[in-house]
Amino acid sequence: MRKQIVAGNWKMNNDVAQTESLLANLKNQTKTTNAEVMVAPTFVNLASAAKALEGSGIEAVAQNMHFAESGAYTGEISASMLKSVGVKTVILGHSERREYFNETDETLAKKVDAALANNLRIIFCFGEVLADRKSNNQEAVVESQISNALFHLNADAYKNIVLAYEPVWAIGTGETASPEQAQDMHAFIRKTLATKYGSDVANNTSVLYGGSCKPGNAKEIFSKPDVDGGLIGGAALNADDFFAIVNAF
Ligand code: PGA
Repeated sequence: MRKQIVAGNWKMNNDVAQTESLLANLKNQTKTTNAEVMVAPTFVNLASAAKALEGSGIEAVAQNMHFAESGAYTGEISASMLKSVGVKTVILGHSERREYFNETDETLAKKVDAALANNLRIIFCFGEVLADRKSNNQEAVVESQISNALFHLNADAYKNIVLAYEPVWAIGTGETASPEQAQDMHAFIRKTLATKYGSDVANNTSVLYGGSCKPGNAKEIFSKPDVDGGLIGGAALNADDFFAIVNAF
């Protein structure tokens, strides 16, 4: 059975005091579903967040990492450094990383390998831009993003991989993919995995939806059979909203 997961991506938000306050508010919330809950604070707050969340049932995860183990990469952070502060999961390939920091399928494939070599779980993000959707090219784009960064892996690696479909035109725009658009793409993603790895991997890999997911639309999106949860940006910055999404299953 694949897991239901709701992960909050805080992006470049929340200083130390704001992080402490949001974590305290999150710890006061009640979870009424089986969904796994994760939040991704900024790197400066990640170690303290991991400590503060110990035993809370909420996991602190990283927003990014470098593929090298150590060395002359100013400003970067490695997989083993994440592990050393108790982090077990890393988000890779977010569209903002691809767009503003030139992440490519090739660098992402290296990051995927480095994360797996360090036993980190990966939330791997991908999704088409508006022009791809308008030209009805979204499936080809998504298929190439997945295959270029992940299809060198063996089936066993998927125990540590969660996929996150995030149509770029829906991120932070207030525009959400309709539940049907999300379901169609998630079914396509599962079919793509099944063709490459067989139905076991396809059926056991969680595929999250991301892009303007909110308390008001989460229930309908999560009710779709191939949607296993969400990667939440803006709405994850408010504990009540975030837990309304967690409890939408
Ligand atoms: P959003 O961001 O919920 O603010 O659209 C989602 C994401 O970038 O993961």
